[in-house]
Amino acid sequence: MTAKILHGDKIADKYRKQIANDIRQRTKQGYRPPVLAVILVGDDPASTIYVRNKRRVCEEVGVNSIDHNLSANISQIELIALINKLNDDPEVDGILVQMPLPKQINPDAILEAIDPEKDVDGFSPYNLGRLAQGRPHLRSCTPAGVMLLLQETATNLPGKVATVVGTSNIVGKPMLLELLLAGCTITACNKRTVDLASAVKRADILVVAVGQQNLIKGEWIKPGSIVIDVGMNRRDDGTLTGDVEFAAAKERAAWITPVPRGVGPMTITCLMNNVLLANINQQLKESA
Ligand code: GUN
Repeated sequence: MTAKILHGDKIADKYRKQIANDIRQRTKQGYRPPVLAVILVGDDPASTIYVRNKRRVCEEVGVNSIDHNLSANISQIELIALINKLNDDPEVDGILVQMPLPKQINPDAILEAIDPEKDVDGFSPYNLGRLAQGRPHLRSCTPAGVMLLLQETATNLPGKVATVVGTSNIVGKPMLLELLLAGCTITACNKRTVDLASAVKRADILVVAVGQQNLIKGEWIKPGSIVIDVGMNRRDDGTLTGDVEFAAAKERAAWITPVPRGVGPMTITCLMNNVLLANINQQLKESA
């Protein structure tokens, strides 16, 4: 079997057009467009590229992005003061603090400082807790994007065996919760899991988010399964690759995401969707 490719860029484009259309319709009805505050601390090259991409998609769908480019030396207190100001600003719908942060800043303290109603990354304890209770509010963007990719495969998810490799707070854990909510039987693994091969071999749905090139061997892939590779690693020649041995896995899976242009575009699309939701909620609050 040769897998069908889940082209995240094309699928993301379809959803972005819908979001742009919703924003246009709301603007015609007299609502103000969604506003996203984007905070970048320092000049980490990867973060700078991610933020540039997010700002470009904001423009594409009609979200106003307000840039806050801060010095790498900023203190935690100063950053929290800015977040508090944005929390209190009724003209700001979403707040995104690009991770990772410099070492003088505790990322957990920052994520807790963001008003959960403006936490468009879906990273706050409140939003993760809501997902854990099976009643999501603003959902973590990468796992939400993966669920849209799974929808494209028209697979009946309840009862399927789903293995997630990588258990970070921003991808692996919310991914497990999304799959649980969809009725899957879930297994949480990390790169140190003893006999990772067995856990992968029984997966009807495999999601890998570790950040280690070739961690998942092609021969471990269950024939006919869905393989979602969230990994983003740079080869020595500068090109990008995921965590799964793509060429070999493609010969066994039914569906597989490429890297790049697989999961990445879906993450930004779900971010835009969250900004629109936060904007709608904010305006409902104002009119109540
Ligand atoms: N760093 C890596 N991925 C992300 C993301 O999705 N959001 C934020 N804020 N930072 C990140």
